[in-house]
Amino acid sequence: MSHTPPNPSHLRARYGMIFVAMAALVSVFLYAAGLFGGHGTTAQQFVNLQQGAKPQFSFRRAHAKGMCIQGDFVASGLLSPYTTAEFFQQGEQPFIGRFSTAGANPLAPDLAAPVRSLALSFSSESGQRWRTAMNTPPVLAVGNPEDFFQQLLALQPDPATGKPNFDKLKAFFAAHSESVQFNQWKQSYVPSTSFATEQYHSTNAFYLLNKQGQRQAVRWAAVPQADAQAMPSDISNSDPDALQLDLAERLQTEPVRFDLMVTLADASDDETNPTVAWPAERTTINAGTVVIRSVEEQKGGACDGINFDPLVLPAGMQATADPILNARGAAYAESYRRRAREIFIESQTAGAQQ
Ligand code: HEM
Repeated sequence: MSHTPPNPSHLRARYGMIFVAMAALVSVFLYAAGLFGGHGTTAQQFVNLQQGAKPQFSFRRAHAKGMCIQGDFVASGLLSPYTTAEFFQQGEQPFIGRFSTAGANPLAPDLAAPVRSLALSFSSESGQRWRTAMNTPPVLAVGNPEDFFQQLLALQPDPATGKPNFDKLKAFFAAHSESVQFNQWKQSYVPSTSFATEQYHSTNAFYLLNKQGQRQAVRWAAVPQADAQAMPSDISNSDPDALQLDLAERLQTEPVRFDLMVTLADASDDETNPTVAWPAERTTINAGTVVIRSVEEQKGGACDGINFDPLVLPAGMQATADPILNARGAAYAESYRRRAREIFIESQTAGAQQ
Protein backbone atom coordinates (compact mmCIF):
# COMPACT_ATOMS: atom_id res chain seq x y z
CA MET A 1 0.00 0.00 0.00
CA SER A 2 1.46 3.33 -1.01
CA HIS A 3 1.75 6.00 1.65
CA THR A 4 1.77 9.70 0.71
CA PRO A 5 3.83 11.78 3.17
CA PRO A 6 1.70 14.51 4.83
CA ASN A 7 1.94 17.90 3.19
CA PRO A 8 3.58 20.22 5.82
CA SER A 9 1.35 23.18 4.93
CA HIS A 10 -1.80 21.02 5.33
CA LEU A 11 -0.49 19.78 8.66
CA ARG A 12 0.17 23.35 9.84
CA ALA A 13 -3.34 24.38 8.80
CA ARG A 14 -4.89 21.35 10.56
CA TYR A 15 -2.94 21.89 13.82
CA GLY A 16 -3.66 25.61 13.57
CA MET A 17 -7.39 24.91 13.45
CA ILE A 18 -7.15 22.50 16.39
CA PHE A 19 -5.22 25.13 18.35
CA VAL A 20 -7.81 27.85 17.58
CA ALA A 21 -10.67 25.52 18.59
CA MET A 22 -8.93 24.63 21.87
CA ALA A 23 -8.14 28.27 22.63
CA ALA A 24 -11.81 29.15 22.03
CA LEU A 25 -12.87 26.34 24.40
CA VAL A 26 -10.45 27.52 27.09
CA SER A 27 -11.74 31.12 26.73
CA VAL A 28 -15.35 29.95 27.09
CA PHE A 29 -14.32 27.97 30.18
CA LEU A 30 -12.49 30.94 31.72
CA TYR A 31 -15.41 33.24 30.97
CA ALA A 32 -17.82 30.78 32.56
CA ALA A 33 -15.50 30.49 35.55
CA GLY A 34 -15.87 34.23 36.03
CA LEU A 35 -12.46 35.47 34.96
CA PHE A 36 -13.39 38.77 33.47
CA GLY A 37 -11.55 41.60 31.79
CA GLY A 38 -8.22 39.74 31.68
CA HIS A 39 -7.43 40.20 35.37
CA GLY A 40 -6.79 37.52 37.90
CA THR A 41 -9.60 37.91 40.43
CA THR A 42 -12.72 35.89 39.71
CA ALA A 43 -16.29 36.96 40.34
CA GLN A 44 -16.57 34.01 42.72
CA GLN A 45 -13.56 35.21 44.74
CA PHE A 46 -15.08 38.68 45.00
CA VAL A 47 -18.45 37.43 46.10
CA ASN A 48 -16.98 34.87 48.54
CA LEU A 49 -15.07 37.68 50.19
CA GLN A 50 -17.93 40.18 50.11
CA GLN A 51 -20.52 37.80 51.55
CA GLY A 52 -18.30 36.91 54.50
CA ALA A 53 -18.15 33.67 56.47
CA LYS A 54 -21.91 33.44 57.03
CA PRO A 55 -23.72 34.37 53.80
CA GLN A 56 -27.17 35.83 54.31
CA PHE A 57 -29.53 33.40 52.62
CA SER A 58 -31.45 34.99 49.70
CA PHE A 59 -29.93 38.46 50.12
CA ARG A 60 -27.55 40.43 47.90
CA ARG A 61 -23.95 39.62 48.81
CA ALA A 62 -23.07 43.31 48.89
CA HIS A 63 -25.35 46.25 49.73
CA ALA A 64 -27.63 43.66 51.35
CA LYS A 65 -29.71 46.14 53.33
CA GLY A 66 -32.01 48.24 51.22
CA MET A 67 -35.49 49.18 50.15
CA CYS A 68 -37.28 49.36 46.81
CA ILE A 69 -38.39 52.65 45.32
CA GLN A 70 -40.40 53.67 42.28
CA GLY A 71 -40.82 56.91 40.41
CA ASP A 72 -40.19 58.75 37.17
CA PHE A 73 -37.21 60.33 35.51
CA VAL A 74 -38.22 63.64 33.95
CA ALA A 75 -35.60 64.11 31.25
CA SER A 76 -34.73 67.70 30.38
CA GLY A 77 -33.63 66.77 26.85
CA LEU A 78 -30.42 68.75 27.35
CA LEU A 79 -28.33 65.62 26.71
CA SER A 80 -29.90 65.03 23.27
CA PRO A 81 -26.94 66.53 21.36
CA TYR A 82 -24.68 63.97 23.07
CA THR A 83 -26.73 60.77 23.06
CA THR A 84 -29.46 58.95 21.23
CA ALA A 85 -30.37 57.07 24.44
CA GLU A 86 -34.14 57.29 24.66
CA PHE A 87 -34.11 57.76 28.44
CA PHE A 88 -32.38 61.12 27.93
CA GLN A 89 -34.77 62.50 25.33
CA GLN A 90 -37.21 65.06 26.73
CA GLY A 91 -40.09 63.32 28.51
CA GLU A 92 -40.91 61.03 31.43
CA GLN A 93 -39.66 57.51 31.99
CA PRO A 94 -40.72 55.29 34.91
CA PHE A 95 -38.04 53.52 36.92
CA ILE A 96 -37.71 50.90 39.64
CA GLY A 97 -34.87 51.60 42.04
CA ARG A 98 -33.29 50.77 45.34
CA PHE A 99 -31.66 52.68 48.18
CA SER A 100 -29.11 50.62 50.07
CA THR A 101 -26.22 50.69 52.50
CA ALA A 102 -22.94 48.92 51.82
CA GLY A 103 -22.17 45.63 53.55
CA ALA A 104 -23.38 42.04 53.59
CA ASN A 105 -25.64 42.24 56.64
CA PRO A 106 -29.30 43.00 55.83
CA LEU A 107 -29.90 43.96 59.49
CA ALA A 108 -26.91 46.31 59.97
CA PRO A 109 -27.68 49.72 61.52
CA ASP A 110 -28.26 52.20 58.69
CA LEU A 111 -26.27 55.11 60.08
CA ALA A 112 -23.14 53.02 60.72
CA ALA A 113 -22.69 52.12 57.03
CA PRO A 114 -19.69 53.82 55.43
CA VAL A 115 -21.33 54.05 52.00
CA ARG A 116 -24.91 54.70 50.89
CA SER A 117 -26.26 53.92 47.47
CA LEU A 118 -28.94 54.62 44.92
CA ALA A 119 -29.62 52.21 42.05
CA LEU A 120 -32.04 52.80 39.16
CA SER A 121 -33.43 50.48 36.50
CA PHE A 122 -35.15 51.70 33.33
CA SER A 123 -36.95 49.56 30.75
CA SER A 124 -38.67 51.06 27.73
CA GLU A 125 -41.46 49.66 25.58
CA SER A 126 -39.06 49.52 22.64
CA GLY A 127 -36.87 47.08 24.58
CA GLN A 128 -34.13 49.44 25.77
CA ARG A 129 -32.65 48.91 29.26
CA TRP A 130 -30.48 51.05 31.51
CA ARG A 131 -29.25 50.16 34.99
CA THR A 132 -27.10 52.38 37.15
CA ALA A 133 -25.79 51.67 40.67
CA MET A 134 -24.36 54.79 42.32
CA ASN A 135 -22.47 55.28 45.58
CA THR A 136 -21.71 58.23 47.84
CA PRO A 137 -17.92 58.38 47.16
CA PRO A 138 -17.17 60.35 43.97
CA VAL A 139 -13.89 58.48 43.37
CA LEU A 140 -12.52 55.04 44.20
CA ALA A 141 -9.41 54.32 46.25
CA VAL A 142 -7.92 52.08 43.55
CA GLY A 143 -8.14 51.69 39.81
CA ASN A 144 -8.23 47.97 39.09
CA PRO A 145 -10.03 44.86 40.38
CA GLU A 146 -6.95 43.20 41.95
CA ASP A 147 -6.27 46.26 44.09
CA PHE A 148 -9.97 46.55 44.90
CA PHE A 149 -9.85 42.94 46.11
CA GLN A 150 -6.81 43.76 48.27
CA GLN A 151 -8.66 46.79 49.66
CA LEU A 152 -11.61 44.56 50.60
CA LEU A 153 -9.16 42.15 52.26
CA ALA A 154 -7.57 44.99 54.23
CA LEU A 155 -11.04 46.06 55.39
CA GLN A 156 -11.92 42.59 56.72
CA PRO A 157 -12.59 42.63 60.46
CA ASP A 158 -9.85 41.23 62.66
CA PRO A 159 -11.21 37.94 64.10
CA ALA A 160 -9.87 38.92 67.54
CA THR A 161 -11.61 42.31 67.79
CA GLY A 162 -14.39 42.10 65.20
CA LYS A 163 -13.18 45.48 63.88
CA PRO A 164 -11.00 46.34 60.86
CA ASN A 165 -7.29 46.18 61.61
CA PHE A 166 -6.09 49.80 61.54
CA ASP A 167 -2.46 48.85 60.81
CA LYS A 168 -3.46 46.71 57.83
CA LEU A 169 -5.54 49.55 56.42
CA LYS A 170 -2.76 52.05 56.99
CA ALA A 171 -0.30 49.79 55.19
CA PHE A 172 -2.76 49.32 52.30
CA PHE A 173 -3.25 53.05 51.78
CA ALA A 174 0.48 53.76 52.21
CA ALA A 175 1.13 51.36 49.34
CA HIS A 176 -1.54 53.01 47.13
CA SER A 177 -0.76 56.65 46.46
CA GLU A 178 -3.64 56.72 43.95
CA SER A 179 -6.05 56.58 46.90
CA VAL A 180 -5.22 60.16 47.93
CA GLN A 181 -8.39 61.76 46.50
CA PHE A 182 -10.57 59.02 47.98
CA ASN A 183 -9.07 59.57 51.43
CA GLN A 184 -9.47 63.33 51.13
CA TRP A 185 -13.15 62.81 50.31
CA LYS A 186 -13.51 60.38 53.22
CA GLN A 187 -12.06 62.84 55.70
CA SER A 188 -14.33 65.68 54.57
CA TYR A 189 -17.51 63.60 54.13
CA VAL A 190 -20.19 64.15 56.75
CA PRO A 191 -22.94 61.55 56.37
CA SER A 192 -26.43 63.01 56.59
CA THR A 193 -29.38 61.38 58.38
CA SER A 194 -31.35 60.84 55.19
CA PHE A 195 -31.05 58.94 51.92
CA ALA A 196 -32.79 61.98 50.42
CA THR A 197 -29.95 64.40 51.15
CA GLU A 198 -26.90 62.45 49.93
CA GLN A 199 -25.14 62.77 46.57
CA TYR A 200 -24.76 59.51 44.66
CA HIS A 201 -22.05 59.13 42.01
CA SER A 202 -21.61 56.85 39.00
CA THR A 203 -17.89 57.05 39.89
CA ASN A 204 -16.97 54.97 36.84
CA ALA A 205 -17.15 56.81 33.51
CA PHE A 206 -19.30 55.88 30.50
CA TYR A 207 -19.59 57.06 26.89
CA LEU A 208 -22.55 58.86 25.36
CA LEU A 209 -22.98 58.35 21.61
CA ASN A 210 -24.88 60.81 19.43
CA LYS A 211 -26.57 60.59 16.01
CA GLN A 212 -23.34 61.53 14.26
CA GLY A 213 -21.54 58.67 16.03
CA GLN A 214 -19.50 61.08 18.18
CA ARG A 215 -18.45 59.75 21.57
CA GLN A 216 -18.34 61.76 24.80
CA ALA A 217 -17.00 60.39 28.11
CA VAL A 218 -19.19 61.28 31.09
CA ARG A 219 -19.76 60.65 34.77
CA TRP A 220 -22.98 61.45 36.55
CA ALA A 221 -24.24 62.20 40.02
CA ALA A 222 -27.71 62.27 41.55
CA VAL A 223 -27.71 65.58 43.45
CA PRO A 224 -30.45 66.02 46.06
CA GLN A 225 -32.95 68.83 45.75
CA ALA A 226 -33.78 68.46 49.45
CA ASP A 227 -31.68 70.64 51.70
CA ALA A 228 -29.95 68.56 54.38
CA GLN A 229 -31.29 70.86 57.10
CA ALA A 230 -34.73 71.55 55.65
CA MET A 231 -36.78 68.62 56.89
CA PRO A 232 -36.08 67.73 60.49
CA SER A 233 -37.08 64.14 60.99
CA ASP A 234 -38.49 62.74 64.24
CA ILE A 235 -36.71 59.42 63.70
CA SER A 236 -34.20 58.49 66.38
CA ASN A 237 -30.61 58.23 65.18
CA SER A 238 -30.22 55.11 67.27
CA ASP A 239 -32.93 53.30 65.28
CA PRO A 240 -31.16 50.67 63.12
CA ASP A 241 -33.57 51.50 60.27
CA ALA A 242 -33.24 55.30 60.62
CA LEU A 243 -32.57 55.95 56.92
CA GLN A 244 -35.40 53.71 55.73
CA LEU A 245 -37.91 55.20 58.19
CA ASP A 246 -36.86 58.74 57.28
CA LEU A 247 -37.42 58.09 53.57
CA ALA A 248 -40.84 56.52 54.14
CA GLU A 249 -41.83 59.51 56.28
CA ARG A 250 -40.70 62.06 53.69
CA LEU A 251 -42.61 60.29 50.94
CA GLN A 252 -45.85 60.57 52.88
CA THR A 253 -45.88 64.31 52.23
CA GLU A 254 -44.11 64.76 48.87
CA PRO A 255 -41.82 63.04 46.34
CA VAL A 256 -38.06 63.02 46.94
CA ARG A 257 -36.16 64.58 44.03
CA PHE A 258 -32.62 64.44 42.68
CA ASP A 259 -31.11 66.25 39.69
CA LEU A 260 -29.13 63.92 37.46
CA MET A 261 -26.03 66.01 36.78
CA VAL A 262 -23.88 64.70 33.92
CA THR A 263 -20.27 65.90 33.69
CA LEU A 264 -18.49 65.92 30.32
CA ALA A 265 -14.83 64.88 30.29
CA ASP A 266 -12.40 66.80 28.16
CA ALA A 267 -9.47 65.37 26.22
CA SER A 268 -7.13 65.62 29.22
CA ASP A 269 -9.35 63.48 31.51
CA ASP A 270 -8.73 59.74 31.76
CA GLU A 271 -12.13 58.08 31.66
CA THR A 272 -10.61 54.70 32.55
CA ASN A 273 -9.27 55.85 35.91
CA PRO A 274 -11.91 56.04 38.68
CA THR A 275 -9.42 57.26 41.32
CA VAL A 276 -9.15 60.79 39.88
CA ALA A 277 -11.94 63.39 39.99
CA TRP A 278 -12.37 65.59 36.94
CA PRO A 279 -11.79 69.32 37.47
CA ALA A 280 -14.79 71.27 38.81
CA GLU A 281 -14.82 73.56 35.76
CA ARG A 282 -15.85 70.75 33.40
CA THR A 283 -19.24 71.31 31.73
CA THR A 284 -22.03 69.73 33.77
CA ILE A 285 -25.50 69.30 32.31
CA ASN A 286 -28.74 68.73 34.21
CA ALA A 287 -30.07 65.69 32.35
CA GLY A 288 -33.32 65.64 34.28
CA THR A 289 -34.99 65.00 37.62
CA VAL A 290 -35.25 61.66 39.39
CA VAL A 291 -38.63 61.87 41.12
CA ILE A 292 -39.06 59.19 43.78
CA ARG A 293 -42.74 58.68 44.57
CA SER A 294 -43.04 55.49 46.59
CA VAL A 295 -41.10 53.04 48.69
CA GLU A 296 -41.63 49.40 49.65
CA GLU A 297 -39.79 46.65 51.49
CA GLN A 298 -37.20 44.89 49.37
CA LYS A 299 -38.38 41.36 50.17
CA GLY A 300 -41.10 40.69 47.63
CA GLY A 301 -40.70 44.25 46.31
CA ALA A 302 -40.29 45.22 42.66
CA CYS A 303 -36.52 45.76 42.97
CA ASP A 304 -35.70 42.45 44.65
CA GLY A 305 -35.39 40.51 41.41
CA ILE A 306 -33.33 43.18 39.64
CA ASN A 307 -29.60 42.90 39.16
CA PHE A 308 -28.43 46.53 38.94
CA ASP A 309 -25.53 45.64 36.64
CA PRO A 310 -23.97 48.92 35.43
CA LEU A 311 -22.98 47.29 32.14
CA VAL A 312 -26.66 47.09 31.11
CA LEU A 313 -26.75 50.15 28.86
CA PRO A 314 -29.15 51.36 26.16
CA ALA A 315 -28.29 52.25 22.56
CA GLY A 316 -26.58 55.64 22.78
CA MET A 317 -24.45 54.69 25.80
CA GLN A 318 -21.36 52.48 26.13
CA ALA A 319 -19.01 51.25 28.85
CA THR A 320 -15.51 52.72 28.97
CA ALA A 321 -12.48 50.45 29.38
CA ASP A 322 -12.30 51.25 33.12
CA PRO A 323 -11.26 47.81 34.47
CA ILE A 324 -13.30 48.20 37.68
CA LEU A 325 -16.45 48.99 35.72
CA ASN A 326 -15.88 45.94 33.54
CA ALA A 327 -15.33 43.67 36.54
CA ARG A 328 -18.61 44.68 38.15
CA GLY A 329 -20.91 42.85 35.71
CA ALA A 330 -19.65 39.33 36.48
CA ALA A 331 -19.55 39.94 40.26
CA TYR A 332 -23.14 41.24 40.32
CA ALA A 333 -24.24 38.27 38.21
CA GLU A 334 -22.56 35.84 40.63
CA SER A 335 -24.26 37.47 43.61
CA TYR A 336 -27.55 37.43 41.71
CA ARG A 337 -27.16 33.72 40.83
CA ARG A 338 -26.59 32.81 44.48
CA ARG A 339 -29.57 34.68 45.84
CA ALA A 340 -31.89 33.75 42.95
CA ARG A 341 -31.23 30.07 43.70
CA GLU A 342 -31.91 30.63 47.40
CA ILE A 343 -35.10 32.61 46.71
CA PHE A 344 -36.25 29.67 44.59
CA ILE A 345 -35.49 27.24 47.46
CA GLU A 346 -37.39 29.52 49.86
CA SER A 347 -40.40 29.58 47.56
CA GLN A 348 -40.34 25.77 47.20
CA THR A 349 -40.12 25.33 50.97
CA ALA A 350 -42.98 27.79 51.53
CA GLY A 351 -45.02 25.95 48.86
CA ALA A 352 -44.35 22.57 50.47
CA GLN A 353 -45.51 23.87 53.87
CA GLN A 354 -48.88 25.10 52.54
C1 HEM B 1 -14.72 45.61 41.37
C2 HEM B 1 -15.51 46.45 42.02
C3 HEM B 1 -16.88 46.06 42.53
C4 HEM B 1 -17.37 44.83 42.87
C5 HEM B 1 -16.66 43.48 42.80
C6 HEM B 1 -18.73 45.01 43.32
C7 HEM B 1 -19.58 44.00 43.73
C8 HEM B 1 -20.91 44.13 44.03
C9 HEM B 1 -21.83 43.03 44.27
C10 HEM B 1 -21.46 41.57 44.27
C11 HEM B 1 -23.06 43.56 44.50
C12 HEM B 1 -24.36 42.81 44.77
C13 HEM B 1 -25.15 42.68 43.48
C14 HEM B 1 -26.50 41.99 43.58
O1 HEM B 1 -26.63 40.95 44.25
O2 HEM B 1 -27.48 42.48 42.95
C15 HEM B 1 -22.92 44.98 44.42
C16 HEM B 1 -23.93 45.87 44.60
C17 HEM B 1 -23.80 47.22 44.42
N1 HEM B 1 -22.67 47.92 44.04
FE1 HEM B 1 -20.88 47.14 43.63
N2 HEM B 1 -19.05 46.35 43.25
C18 HEM B 1 -17.94 47.01 42.77
C19 HEM B 1 -17.83 48.37 42.54
C20 HEM B 1 -18.84 49.26 42.70
C21 HEM B 1 -18.78 50.66 42.39
C22 HEM B 1 -17.57 51.37 41.79
C23 HEM B 1 -20.01 51.18 42.69
C24 HEM B 1 -20.53 52.59 42.57
C25 HEM B 1 -19.98 53.60 42.06
C26 HEM B 1 -20.84 50.12 43.20
C27 HEM B 1 -22.15 50.26 43.60
C28 HEM B 1 -22.98 49.24 43.97
C29 HEM B 1 -24.37 49.42 44.35
C30 HEM B 1 -25.11 50.74 44.43
C31 HEM B 1 -24.88 48.15 44.63
C32 HEM B 1 -26.29 47.82 45.09
C33 HEM B 1 -27.19 47.76 43.91
C34 HEM B 1 -28.55 47.32 44.33
O3 HEM B 1 -29.27 48.12 44.95
O4 HEM B 1 -28.86 46.15 44.09
N3 HEM B 1 -20.11 48.97 43.19
N4 HEM B 1 -21.60 45.30 44.14
